[in-house]
Amino acid sequence: MIVGIPSESFPHERRVALVPALVPTLTKARLEVLVQRGAGQAAGFPDAAYESQGARLARERRELFTSADALLMVHAPGTNPEAGPADLALMHTGQVVIGLMNPLGAPDLVRETAARGVTAFALELLPRISRAQGMDVLSSMATVAGYKAVLLAAETLDKMFPMLMTAAGTLSAARVFVMGAGVAGLQAIATAKRLGAAVTAYDVRPAVKEQVESLGGKFLTLGLESAGAEGAGGYAKAMDEEFYRKQREMMSQAVAGSDVVITTAAVPGKRAPVLLTGEMVRGMRPGSVIVDLAAESGGNCELTRPGETAVAQGVTILGPLNLASTAPYHASQMYARNVTTFLLALVKEGAVKLDLEDPIVRDTLLTREGEVVHAQVRGLLGAAAAAPAGKAGH
Ligand code: NAI
Repeated sequence: MIVGIPSESFPHERRVALVPALVPTLTKARLEVLVQRGAGQAAGFPDAAYESQGARLARERRELFTSADALLMVHAPGTNPEAGPADLALMHTGQVVIGLMNPLGAPDLVRETAARGVTAFALELLPRISRAQGMDVLSSMATVAGYKAVLLAAETLDKMFPMLMTAAGTLSAARVFVMGAGVAGLQAIATAKRLGAAVTAYDVRPAVKEQVESLGGKFLTLGLESAGAEGAGGYAKAMDEEFYRKQREMMSQAVAGSDVVITTAAVPGKRAPVLLTGEMVRGMRPGSVIVDLAAESGGNCELTRPGETAVAQGVTILGPLNLASTAPYHASQMYARNVTTFLLALVKEGAVKLDLEDPIVRDTLLTREGEVVHAQVRGLLGAAAAAPAGKAGH
């Protein structure tokens, strides 16, 4: 079986789905690795490094797509609206594709993927069970994003982060407030602490308090957090508008007293909750900085412009997109480990053998034998349109 690694065609993407060090892991499992020339270049992995680990190189994308039985990608068509459809046109019946697919945001592309006869797996849909931890690309990429968010904030802020006692007087530590202490938020707290900031954090899930404190952060208790805010897999549940209104009111003071606010709050499959209103932003000191990591799913701040920098009364609001790609070497290293672990869980004796009872397969498998088989995506498409009459999904 040939495993193909295309170069990423998403605009400005620098990651690659497989790093040279993991080629032997696949060849040992009797898989042949074919890498598109230049695929790892932007992430710091030259072609020669893949070759020396036992991979073959494909000169052209078409050759790679034609030869591969399985494709490992960062951006599969659903997360690559510009170039994705051209990739889809190169895919063939029976080919396995594993990557980020945005199936809940772009269900129509899932239908087109099914129509090409491709067996597609969306890594965003991995169940949060311990066996899947080593495959969890969302956690890996959130780790990079949380780290980079703090560096962006530090670069933009008009203060330094640490408390310094100098001959010219004492400088107080910058105050950083992290909203949403999931994977990205916890990494942001750790990074801001390392730079010497005084860090406070908030999350609707009370279980997080201990984790924040173990990193040296202070947990802001509003009295709104409850165990009921935690849904399946440890993710937060969506709350009603009254809850968010109360939350904003109670957080206003903490926001006004912060030099940096980093927001990471997300609810899977939903628009990000608005935690910062324009009024709250205007209550901050001019020179302060907001980094909105939820920009991709609509933003936690009312004034965020995804992919751009906004300034309101001297407060800078950054809405960075695809931050994981800005540390492509390590991001690719983690992504490659995750996707390799996933692929090897599907492979028996050198070929993909699907166990449809396995929750990892069941939750991530989107399409198979010409049909959209994922229940949630079928629901979005309307079951009638997703499959020929009389055929049930899994
Ligand atoms: P996420 O990216 O979906 O959300 C980020 C954070 O925002 C979460 O902590 C969430 O509780 C918080 N949030 C949502 N609404 C909020 C609001 N209104 N105000 C403040 N905070 C709000 O979540 P992420 O980071 O992907 O994971 C969340 C948790 O899932 C982790 O902390 C962990 O406990 C668990 N997890 C489990 C895994 C496994 O078992 N395989 C793997 C990764 C995470």
